[in-house]
Amino acid sequence: MDSPTTHLISRRDALIVGAATAATAAAVSSSAPAAAAPAASAAGAVPRAKLSITVNGKSHSLDLDTRTTLLDALREHLHLTGTKKGCDHGQCGACTVIADGRRINSCLTLAVMHDGGQVTTIEGLGTPQNMHPLQAAFVKHDGYQCGYCTPGQICSAVGVIDEVKRGVPSHVSADLTARPMLSAEELRERMSGNICRCGAYSNIVEAITEVAGSRA
Ligand code: FES
Ligand code: FES
Repeated sequence: MDSPTTHLISRRDALIVGAATAATAAAVSSSAPAAAAPAASAAGAVPRAKLSITVNGKSHSLDLDTRTTLLDALREHLHLTGTKKGCDHGQCGACTVIADGRRINSCLTLAVMHDGGQVTTIEGLGTPQNMHPLQAAFVKHDGYQCGYCTPGQICSAVGVIDEVKRGVPSHVSADLTARPMLSAEELRERMSGNICRCGAYSNIVEAITEVAGSRA
């Protein structure tokens, strides 16, 4: 059986051999042709892309890490912090914006996928002095408490009203060929991707119903 000393020596020898190997490799790489260095740095480089995007009617040119989500592009690069990051996993709806006419979770899409596209955020819907009808209705009906989910709720509600107008059925539409009714059941189903931890759901439905022009 080996003595502890043998193990120590073996480990020390192994370290010496390893260090010598690393030194040899470094010497070889330093004498290698210069072309090898760019290849190595290119492998570790952050991939970037230039894109143009119109947000709330204003055109922006961005140069981004291609892995940047639309949500991070809006918040971190364009400083439009009205769009909120809740889960960052497509589960809460706080990041909902309208992209090319459709409501989407901006945390689930890459900014580069919207090159040339049009995005509307809560800032583009209205201002405190000139609110969008849904913003005014949310205030009137107390459709929020902390307000964190509210930008996403309102952008989503804009999308819902448009979908109902276009006759897009939902999971609870009884007749897929009939024009959908704007019932409370329909609204709750269509807004189910927007979570409100304050539980303002009933008031949110009232606000959307008022703007959509039908009582739930
Ligand atoms: S932050 Fe995008 S769905 Fe929650
Ligand atoms: S108002 Fe607080 S999470 Fe909805």
